[in-house]
Amino acid sequence: MAAVIALLNMKGGVGKTTLAVNLAWHFYQIEQKNVLLVDLDPQFNTTQYVMDFQAFQKQCKEAGTIADLLIDPPQLSPRLRRVKKNPKAALHTIRKNALAKFDLLPAELNLAWIVKNPAQMDYRLEMLLKKFNDDYDYIFIDCAPTDSVLTTMALTASDYLLIPMRPDRFSILGFANLNETIKIFRKNCPDPHGVKVLGIVFTQVTQNSTVEQGAMDDIQAAAQKEGTYLFSSMLKYSTSFSRSVKDQTPIFRTDYAQYPARRAPAKIADELKGRITALAGEAKQAKVKKK
Ligand SMILES: Nc1ncnc2c1ncn2[C@@H]1O[C@H](COP(=O)(O)OP(=O)(O)OP(=O)(O)O)[C@@H](O)[C@H]1O
Ligand SMILES: [Mg+2]
Repeated sequence: MAAVIALLNMKGGVGKTTLAVNLAWHFYQIEQKNVLLVDLDPQFNTTQYVMDFQAFQKQCKEAGTIADLLIDPPQLSPRLRRVKKNPKAALHTIRKNALAKFDLLPAELNLAWIVKNPAQMDYRLEMLLKKFNDDYDYIFIDCAPTDSVLTTMALTASDYLLIPMRPDRFSILGFANLNETIKIFRKNCPDPHGVKVLGIVFTQVTQNSTVEQGAMDDIQAAAQKEGTYLFSSMLKYSTSFSRSVKDQTPIFRTDYAQYPARRAPAKIADELKGRITALAGEAKQAKVKKK
């Protein structure tokens, strides 16, 4: 059974994609886990991070994308009928070795159709991922920076939420909005997983201004008030991240990033595993108390 983790923050450009790809790659490459990376953003940045353009075009033509698996157009082409029958055919292998595999469920611009036509979409991603769940240890969902039906789909499909956050003033309001969305979701949607918040990970941290430090302090206070865990490990600002996107490689496999940047995904991954264990312990205790 996979741990399904959505990287969510409706604020744009906070490092959701960067963190999702680097964590997923870490778990495959360093921990030899079976990992599926799900691109749930019509901007399909995750897809572009790990797949070159020619492979992407071939994928759209021959194997399909997450849009093909989620959307029911009135008339399916023979190709799409094939993909619908066997959703695993739409998975793109990023890397594979004797012990583990690292796959992508790619997205494309057409995914935006769902945002305009949200009827009966809420549980479709959850149903889809159930078909893949036994094949992976971790499934990472990279979410779009909007509060839309795509957010609800990510929430219903996930066991855990990870919130990448830039330490700036706008993030404080963004965090309040995100909490509101989670509360409304919990109130209105039957959620078999009982999605749990792993915590906030600071990203693009420069550590060179008092304004930034002030924002970090305020976010910490807001997180404490909401009972949201704040990761002590973070992704500091490094120009190597955008270079690693160009090179379609994780930061820890580059020879140009400095050691702290290369080490960051491993530190966050360790803390993430600790959080999963802690949350499982809390759930167990709550069950015992109920009895
Ligand atoms: N730690 C970092 N240091 C420097 N640049 C970074 C860092 N993390 C991400 N970036 C850069 O910031 C930009 C936005 O990052 P990213 O695309 O991961 O954010 P996002 O939250 O997924 O954005 P969107 O909301 O549009 O999906 C990218 O150009 C990325 O290379
Ligand atoms: Mg993104």
